[in-house]
Amino acid sequence: MERVSGGYPPDITLESLTPEPLLGREYQDRPEAVHERLRRRHGAVAPVDLLGVPVWLVLGYQEALHVLQNDAMWPKGMQHWRARNEGRVPDDWPVAPALEADNTMARGGADHARYRTAWDAALKPFQDPGHPQTRRLKDNIRRTANELVMLLAQQGRSGTADLAARFSRPLPLMVAGELLGASRAQSERALMDIWRILDAGPDSALAAERVHTAMDALAEEKRRRPGEDFPSYMLAAQPLLTSSELAHELTMLMGMISDHAGILIANAVVEIITGDGRARASLSAGMIRETVNHVVLRKPPLANFMPRFPLRDQRLGEYVIRAGEPVWIATAATHADLRSAAGASPDRATSTRAHLSWGAGPRQCPARELATTISTLALECLFEHFALLELAVPADQLPWRSSPFVRGLRSLPIRYELRADYEIPSPDPSVAAAKRTASEERPAQASTLRRLLAGTVTGTIDPHSF
Ligand code: HEM
Repeated sequence: MERVSGGYPPDITLESLTPEPLLGREYQDRPEAVHERLRRRHGAVAPVDLLGVPVWLVLGYQEALHVLQNDAMWPKGMQHWRARNEGRVPDDWPVAPALEADNTMARGGADHARYRTAWDAALKPFQDPGHPQTRRLKDNIRRTANELVMLLAQQGRSGTADLAARFSRPLPLMVAGELLGASRAQSERALMDIWRILDAGPDSALAAERVHTAMDALAEEKRRRPGEDFPSYMLAAQPLLTSSELAHELTMLMGMISDHAGILIANAVVEIITGDGRARASLSAGMIRETVNHVVLRKPPLANFMPRFPLRDQRLGEYVIRAGEPVWIATAATHADLRSAAGASPDRATSTRAHLSWGAGPRQCPARELATTISTLALECLFEHFALLELAVPADQLPWRSSPFVRGLRSLPIRYELRADYEIPSPDPSVAAAKRTASEERPAQASTLRRLLAGTVTGTIDPHSF
């Protein structure tokens, strides 16, 4: 449909525009091409069909900033969605469960402030550089990253591997256990269930139930015996949180750390290897935080934010958005807009921290420092130990996930070569136990998770099967 200069007539609604489907092969492989086509046709805000449901997609940087910074007028919260309230969104719409999740990311309304205060307070000890918790967490990230490299090294000093399965997904997940203050067995069971959920496998519904039950039990435990961990800090900040409410937040924390931080690490590796050279240049210069900044600008992990719903009819771009229509921010598209606005001096856009990868306004990500720390330490470890890291498939054949929320890989096939001075440490007892278990089919005494990871190295376990 051609764009009408000066906006559409007021009687046009989102449903009447018969928008083009957003998700599909082209969006999966080259989302920027889809964004550009939409921008040419519609301007800064485009109607799209999201798996059978019409929504608005914001492609313009200024328009996105306007929505994000005006939370009172453009709130989150499914209760505001007019079409859904009128029964026009199918009950089995696959995107609904994520939007209806009872957690801080999805929730709108006055209650949000109570949760947000608790999140900020509970994350503070892990994000404040002078706090002993932050130092302990960093040591743990380094140790875990080194352990994962060591497991990979046991496969050979050079070879091919799926770096997502072997490194970028397990690392943040393993770190999450420490934040939760859970026992190793508790966190490893939950971590493997989170993997099952993230891969949307056949047993993901059962896995989700188990995670919630486990997090509920953990919340109860922390209420009885508080420790130096996220759930205890959250309860200290908001003692009236019920265990079930806290369990929803803990499940979200596990998901955000594992999926989003894992995606950031993998996207960073891809950008460093295949990008325009800037990520690699800042890495070589030791400016690792600038590398991560560059990566989130070029390959933002959260591709489309949770929708907002205007409380009144509002002009945005070339359209009037009706009260209660869903508006999604397409992060990468807004960054492309930011870059083109920088025009002749693209460097300005590259080094600017004005990007929207962590959101903007009152609902901005409270954990950006934590996520940045995990990814910078992960990258430092990788590029310290490997002399060579390159894609094992052409860049245009990387298997991107088809997701309405994230821009991440299903797997990251790489060719690697360890540095000549890297000494492969002797395997720890859990690895030895894994090898014994694989050959003798006996239950191992060792940590289940490390056994599974070791199994992926010895080739006895398919990383996507757990
Ligand atoms: C690379 C990693 C991450 C990225 C790119 C990211 C990005 C974002 C973005 C863009 C938002 C705003 C969404 C919106 O406005 O709809 C957000 C919100 C949020 N993030 Fe993150 N995030 C990351 C990691 C994490 C982690 C590890 C945690 C938890 C430990 C976390 C907790 C949250 C929470 C609680 C919110 C909701 C804040 C609110 O609504 O007030 N994020 N994140």
